[in-house]
Amino acid sequence: MPNAYAPFSNFKVGAALLTEDGKVFTGVNVENSSYGGTICAERTAAVKAVSEGYRSFTKLAVASTGGDAYPCGICRQFLYEFAPDLEIILGVDEDHLRTCTLRELLPEGFRL
Ligand code: THU
Repeated sequence: MPNAYAPFSNFKVGAALLTEDGKVFTGVNVENSSYGGTICAERTAAVKAVSEGYRSFTKLAVASTGGDAYPCGICRQFLYEFAPDLEIILGVDEDHLRTCTLRELLPEGFRL
């Protein structure tokens, strides 16, 4: 989260994506003056992993300065491409974590 670049929303998000073989890729949201150029923390983590050759993921953790942040619609579909059975953990405080699955957040996700 501290590395998030969010001067426009002030909403800093951090994500950590666990690969099938136990490696963790982290990501933050990176905003842009041209707002559409913004990338979410979840997709940053996924793009880092895929570009390093990792495509199988089991879990995703997301935390934000604004409390629980459920992945946005674009991120849900983006993650569904690689990990439709992804388990998701939300929250900052270890004692108050929420869990859900990507299939719950995106029923009938699109696949070619
Ligand atoms: N954002 C994320 O990084 N992940 C989410 O799950 C929701 C939204 C970012 C995008 C933008 O930089 C800021 O949060 C406010 O929408």
